[in-house]
Amino acid sequence: MAEFDVIIIGGGPGGYVCAIRCAQLGLKVACVEGRDTLGGTCLNIGCIPSKALLNATHHLHEVHENFEKMGLMGAVPRVDWAKMQAYKDDVIAGNTKGIEFLFKKNKVTWLKGWASIPAPGQVKVGDDTHSAKNIVIATGSEPSTLPSVTVDEVTIVTSTGALALPKLPKSMVVIGAGVIGLEMGSVYARLGAQVTVVEYLDTITPGMDAEVAKTFQKILAKQGLKFVLGAAVQGAEAGKKGAKVTYKLRKDDSAHEVEADVVLVATGRKPYTAGLGLDALGVEMLPRGQIKTDGHFATNIKGLYAIGDAIIGPMLAHKAEDEGMAMAEILAGKHGHVNYGVIPGVVYTTPEVASVGATEEQLKDQGHAYKVGKFSFMGNGRAKAVFQAEGFVKILADKTTDRILGAHIIGPMAGDLIHEVCVAMEFGASAQDLALTCHAHPTYSEAVREAALACGDGAIHA
Ligand code: NAI
Repeated sequence: MAEFDVIIIGGGPGGYVCAIRCAQLGLKVACVEGRDTLGGTCLNIGCIPSKALLNATHHLHEVHENFEKMGLMGAVPRVDWAKMQAYKDDVIAGNTKGIEFLFKKNKVTWLKGWASIPAPGQVKVGDDTHSAKNIVIATGSEPSTLPSVTVDEVTIVTSTGALALPKLPKSMVVIGAGVIGLEMGSVYARLGAQVTVVEYLDTITPGMDAEVAKTFQKILAKQGLKFVLGAAVQGAEAGKKGAKVTYKLRKDDSAHEVEADVVLVATGRKPYTAGLGLDALGVEMLPRGQIKTDGHFATNIKGLYAIGDAIIGPMLAHKAEDEGMAMAEILAGKHGHVNYGVIPGVVYTTPEVASVGATEEQLKDQGHAYKVGKFSFMGNGRAKAVFQAEGFVKILADKTTDRILGAHIIGPMAGDLIHEVCVAMEFGASAQDLALTCHAHPTYSEAVREAALACGDGAIHA
């Protein structure tokens, strides 16, 4: 008799959600986590702490940019970096303890330590070996830095070090204009640092709808971020004071360098599977280090499954969570399913940027006949009242059937607004379905409705 029905390795959003759902479905479940707290990268050194810093610095930015316009005069708050860090740490603690509470409530056993899999059906944690009918790997990912760059997490940092810098930098070079680079770059720009983002491609945020990416770059540039695009970073070196980044412009191969107090390397993440013993088990891997799984998260070893950042797909906490729930349902004999066509992506800058489904570029590449409904937040009274009217909503719909194929939003609360389109897409809705839905006034969501109207007979306030 196996000790557990399921042992999940990793207590991040993929693993802990899977564990809770397994328990809710009546399975005897354990989750192995080696960190002192549950929640994985997302809660400890990722999504959640970065949102705390983004929140604090957003308010500071508001004071600088908009308070006087609203008749709020007087002293600008002084930044107490240690206190801001303490606020961030409190937010982390509140969230991670919350997961611990949920484990207790749902009777999930937390096996504390780092796991390895000595044989199918066995998980070793410290000196103890546990048995399980099924094992789920949810070990997530780690920063993927450049070979020519040595990270010390003080002067040359990944996102982990960037969340806990010992002191505020006056200047920062960010390598990579992806989500991490722009979120953390925004934080330090708002705190007064001169931020230079060096990006290999000719646009920021690769994969994002090009029109949105262009507007996004313009807005961030207005906020003081400097962009060097089409630049391949060759190396970064820490010196006595700060660090130097060398890069070559791709258009003419010319060599350049830029110095700063701190360098953030944000060039992507890679699956984290070290120490599990997958090689010895003979687990099939993909060329980029992900564990190979079938449509039901099964590896080539019987009873061994994998979900989240450790397998193929977007490295997003909510994708991992969805896979965690689907995995639990499959293990409980139900029909777990993830709709990979409707996974939103959000960048939590100001303004926020959010997307779901196809970009215009993808539809063009596929030769799909589509129509575009666009609406600027300039026509949205609420956005204008809060000085956030710079962005727009863009809805892409099938030219013949009007079915929504994708949506891209840059503007206030974009990360929340996107979900009405997600729900619509889950239900196979047309743009007209959204357009015919009454939206409360005055809300930002009216801009979504107006974009949907623009797919048909036209928006009202454009
Ligand atoms: P990313 O893949 O989003 O962006 C990395 C960027 O670095 C790319 O634009 C790439 O072209 C550039 N780059 C790579 N090598 C370079 C070189 N030698 N010189 C110059 N530029 C170079 O990766 P990022 O931002 O590190 O994020 C990692 C993962 O974490 C992503 O999958 C992201 O989706 C996820 N994440 C999601 C967040 C969210 O949903 N809000 C927040 C933070 C991370």
